[in-house]
Amino acid sequence: MYLVVDLEGFTLKKMMILKKILGIDVGGSGIKGAIVHTKKGELLTERYRIPTPDAPTPDAVADVISQIASHFEWKGPIGVGFPAVIQGGISKTAANVDKSFIGTNIEALISQQTKSPVRIINDADAAGLAEMKFGAGKDKRGVVLIITVGTGIGTVLFSNGNVVENTELGHLILPNGQEAEQYASDATRQKLDLSWTDWGKRFNEYLTYMESLFWPDLIIIGGGVSKHYSKYDFTLNTKCSLVPAQLMNNAGIVGAALAVKWSLKDKI
Ligand code: BGC
Repeated sequence: MYLVVDLEGFTLKKMMILKKILGIDVGGSGIKGAIVHTKKGELLTERYRIPTPDAPTPDAVADVISQIASHFEWKGPIGVGFPAVIQGGISKTAANVDKSFIGTNIEALISQQTKSPVRIINDADAAGLAEMKFGAGKDKRGVVLIITVGTGIGTVLFSNGNVVENTELGHLILPNGQEAEQYASDATRQKLDLSWTDWGKRFNEYLTYMESLFWPDLIIIGGGVSKHYSKYDFTLNTKCSLVPAQLMNNAGIVGAALAVKWSLKDKI
């Protein structure tokens, strides 16, 4: 755990009792935000989306986040889910974003631009926090693996409700020699124009490999593919329970907002 910047009078204590937080989900095609009720896990506003800049550099992304905060006339804390390994506010990888993110303290940059206290975590970790608190993982013990499938494949692992951050299991090399994300992301499904059945068979290879490594009690499928679950669920044959995410598109935003409090308390 590390300390949140105390800005604009937002002391740690005040942030702990706040119920409304601006959640932002940075994706490969769009950057989306909404004000979130962190006790109910609900959006209090419509989602506001701005396309991800063509050259998604740290300054350009921080600028879009600042525009989203201005749209909501937001002055409070901001939680951000970002598609990379994040440690102490610094991006350590950049699989689907500009390489200049590596080593950048994106948390400090967004905080400077928005003049708000900011907490940034990995996007799949954010979605996982939301699903575990309000969605398909609620009250689930044991090992829960959440996989978000979109432009990339994001993963987050929970053990008895405790999160293991930055797992990055979308970059595993499958037994067929291919990187999981290249083989079975939603971007690959679209690029190769795969039917849901053909994509489902690929995804099943990934799931069964993950199961052989981690033996989860439950796998939750999140990201854009979760709302099409009935189009491919018959292709999946894991031994453990498998369910689609319940928060669907909103998990990233809700989880990003939750991350602000979670980082203060180390639990959701
Ligand atoms: C990134 C992860 C991210 C996932 C989903 C992957 O390419 O490495 O950090 O969680 O995409 O966006």
